[in-house]
Amino acid sequence: MAGSTWEDMISLNSRAETVQQVLGPVRDYLSQDVGEVSWDKSRISLEWAVDKDPYPIPTTEQREGYYGPNHFNYWASGLRDYCQLIEWVEQNKIRSNTILDIGCASGRLIRHARNNFDEVIGCDINRQHVDWVGRYLDPSIKIFQNTSIPALPLPDASVDVVTAFSVFTHIECFDTTWLMELRRILRPGGIAWLTIHGDRTWRDIGPTWPLYGALTAHPDYPRYQGIKDLPEDRLIFRWHAERSYSANVFYTYEYIKKIWGRILPVRDIFPALPFFQDIVVLQKT
Ligand SMILES: C[S@@+](CC[C@H](N)C(=O)[O-])C[C@H]1O[C@@H](n2cnc3c(N)ncnc32)[C@H](O)[C@@H]1O
Repeated sequence: MAGSTWEDMISLNSRAETVQQVLGPVRDYLSQDVGEVSWDKSRISLEWAVDKDPYPIPTTEQREGYYGPNHFNYWASGLRDYCQLIEWVEQNKIRSNTILDIGCASGRLIRHARNNFDEVIGCDINRQHVDWVGRYLDPSIKIFQNTSIPALPLPDASVDVVTAFSVFTHIECFDTTWLMELRRILRPGGIAWLTIHGDRTWRDIGPTWPLYGALTAHPDYPRYQGIKDLPEDRLIFRWHAERSYSANVFYTYEYIKKIWGRILPVRDIFPALPFFQDIVVLQKT
């Protein structure tokens, strides 16, 4: 159905037709592996990971454009990010029964999570992603459509690890409400693993970084151009007033520590892979 509907203010594509095109599994795209995107192979070998994943790869369109035509790099990037997470989880002895990936899109990360977690849950505001995961990935993965209102249909203290890759980088309001909701669903000792654009991204961003084009094209950007340190605790570049998921957001580390840290203690902040964003790890006590 064309045009905006009330659902589209708090979710995406809720009434759109789902895209039918399907690609093969990663095995079909091994020739695209030129070593550009790699992970800790001593932990997970290529052969093992390929064998374990007979599920289709989403088309470039079905995966938010990630990695353009390189389907192998897309798949490997999920494994790389997953290995970084799981290494931290193991080193810090975090329980790993249940993982929830918020803004999971078409499952870049969660398709790999069955290796360690008993229960894998994904959610996204975009119904097309939710339909795609439901149709094509491992049937044991639970998937649901959430909305931009910070409320998740999950019980209190039911999740060990919550991840959100490139989601808080777009959340321009209610970030603290989301944090409260994560605190509610996390088990004591559980962690939230959230990527952000922080002081470092603002300071170091250059023309080769993926965000650069969109950021510098924004009409407000010239006001901030050349300012070395993030000029606001939450610097928001918003494109549309009437829909969610249309902003790029920067948070200072100080804001994260002072404001997010009041809700969930900050365990760590370090560069993501690649280093265009940072990972914030918060832990429920
Ligand atoms: C930049 S993409 C990242 C996708 C995925 N996390 C990854 O790393 O491949 C952001 C995703 O978050 C979803 N999203 C945006 N705001 C959201 C929200 N408030 N709750 C859940 N999903 C959201 C979008 O629909 C999109 O699929």
